Amino acid sequence: DKPRVFVTRTIPKAGLDRLREVCEVEVWPKPKPPRRDTLLDKARGCAGLVTMLSDKVDETVLTAAGDDLKVVANYAVGYNNIDVAACREHGVAVGNTPDVLTDATADVAVLLMLAAARSFTPAAASVRDGGWKTWAPMDHLGMELAGKTVGVIGLGRIGRAFADRCHGGWGMKVLYTANSPKPDADRDLGAKHVELPELLANSDFISLHCPLTEATAGLIDANALHQMKTTAVLVNTARGEVIDQDALHTALSGGKIFAAGLDVTTPEPLPTDSPLLELPNCVVLPHIGSATVHARSGMALMAADNVLAGLRGDPLPHGV
Ligand code: GLV
Ligand code: GLV
Repeated sequence: DKPRVFVTRTIPKAGLDRLREVCEVEVWPKPKPPRRDTLLDKARGCAGLVTMLSDKVDETVLTAAGDDLKVVANYAVGYNNIDVAACREHGVAVGNTPDVLTDATADVAVLLMLAAARSFTPAAASVRDGGWKTWAPMDHLGMELAGKTVGVIGLGRIGRAFADRCHGGWGMKVLYTANSPKPDADRDLGAKHVELPELLANSDFISLHCPLTEATAGLIDANALHQMKTTAVLVNTARGEVIDQDALHTALSGGKIFAAGLDVTTPEPLPTDSPLLELPNCVVLPHIGSATVHARSGMALMAADNVLAGLRGDPLPHGV
């Protein structure tokens, strides 16, 4: 019998085809994720799971899956949805999809930085809804990027790609926080490793590129927002939980910072009556950081390769 693999959403065909050569593959066909009880049911007897960031993989899922389960391949670079320690205890390997989505995600951070800095959403809306009457010398005044200081919180792969764009495109000075200094970035970009308070106080643009962990949950709270410049623009393409959203709403509506651009929120999606969505200085996207044809098909192949290696008992090519 071929090993069974459950894939919790439809992913690009190239990855599914690669899995089907070796495995009996079931793909959850609906546009919404399987409900929790459905996931537990489908996982039963599987040797591999391909999961999305919307699927929580914890002790309960691992127990439901049973002893055949060898590998969980997350279709994402972030893996905060997976209890890695529990997987280890069950002898289940865990993989993710780094690198292939780095440029795509850094591009969305730039997109949000520009959109928030230049009031893109209300400006574009005014053209559609007839609010724009005539060229206006005082409307939609935004922030320039050239020569400004950008603060990158978490200078990993995506943070570095974002810093490269800021430095190369607009000659920005780069400050960053990271668990350890990055000599390459210091040398290539003149970047400076600083503590968070220094970054918050001195950056014109602040972009989050850290994983969601206990240490980063709620990192950008009311206190952090108060330390920022009133002209600061905050960008989040990491995880919604890194920002205290109530505090962000207060800061944005009270003019404590200039604007924010969010690709990630808590929850996803935000309810359509969320107060954040009423603010002209907050632009929100539906978690599209990795949503390019190139990145998503590459992620599918990487997830498939992780599953196949896990089934053979080999180290995962992209293990966490
Ligand atoms: C998306 O958020 C990812 O982690 O890949
Ligand atoms: C406006 O269009 C300008 O050229 O400054």
